[in-house]
Amino acid sequence: MTCKLFGLVYDFFMTYDSKHTEIIGPKEGYDAVAQQYGQYHKHLNSFYTINFLQFLPRKKSFDIIDLGAGDGRMWYQLKDIPHEKYLAVDISKEMLARHPRGAKHLVADLEKPLPLESDSFDVAVSFFTLEHLERLEVLFSEVYRILRPEGQLFIGHFFQRRMFERNTHSKRFKIQQYPRSTEEILQEGEYAGFAMETVKLFDKEIQTGDLIIGRKK
Ligand SMILES: C[S@@+](CC[C@H](N)C(=O)[O-])C[C@H]1O[C@@H](n2cnc3c(N)ncnc32)[C@H](O)[C@@H]1O
Repeated sequence: MTCKLFGLVYDFFMTYDSKHTEIIGPKEGYDAVAQQYGQYHKHLNSFYTINFLQFLPRKKSFDIIDLGAGDGRMWYQLKDIPHEKYLAVDISKEMLARHPRGAKHLVADLEKPLPLESDSFDVAVSFFTLEHLERLEVLFSEVYRILRPEGQLFIGHFFQRRMFERNTHSKRFKIQQYPRSTEEILQEGEYAGFAMETVKLFDKEIQTGDLIIGRKK
């Protein structure tokens, strides 16, 4: 038996889009594409030339957490922030296994409470990950908890027109997403207690997305 809701077709345990492409969860999906994910690194260059230091206070060292770190694409920019601690968190073991740095990894679901101490990081980043989370409020309240006072959260949010179709040798599928506007993300952040702001990001004069910044008050 199948039923249709919000443009998606549900068939007991499987979900398909209107073109019958299977929609799967991020854990299974990113484990499956981990090997080929590196080929997307060249996309969205506007997000990979951000100088984070311009937003940070003068400090000798920052403790950094990368939420939805994947195979570590952000690491090449984050390494310029002076730091003693860097923790890469992701739901996909296979993505984390390709992280370029022998840093600490944590396999965890960002829609659940994190096994981390309160007030233990200065900088949290999350790039191209929030769109996979159904419940943003869990992420925001957990990030608020684990950041130190005045700590900052940097979110990479790009304007996506449609869900990517993925092809591995055995399967064609899309990874579940929950599209949101910048305004919706700002609202969730403010609700959790952050002071929120945005910086527009451009590629060849076309806006590709926003860098969304939350400061713990
Ligand atoms: C598009 S990739 C972005 C990876 C990396 N931040 C980058 O800039 O390339 C999204 C990442 O979010 C992770 N992810 C998705 N849902 C998650 C969840 N509920 N908990 C933890 N990680 C999740 C995926 O496994 C994947 O590595």
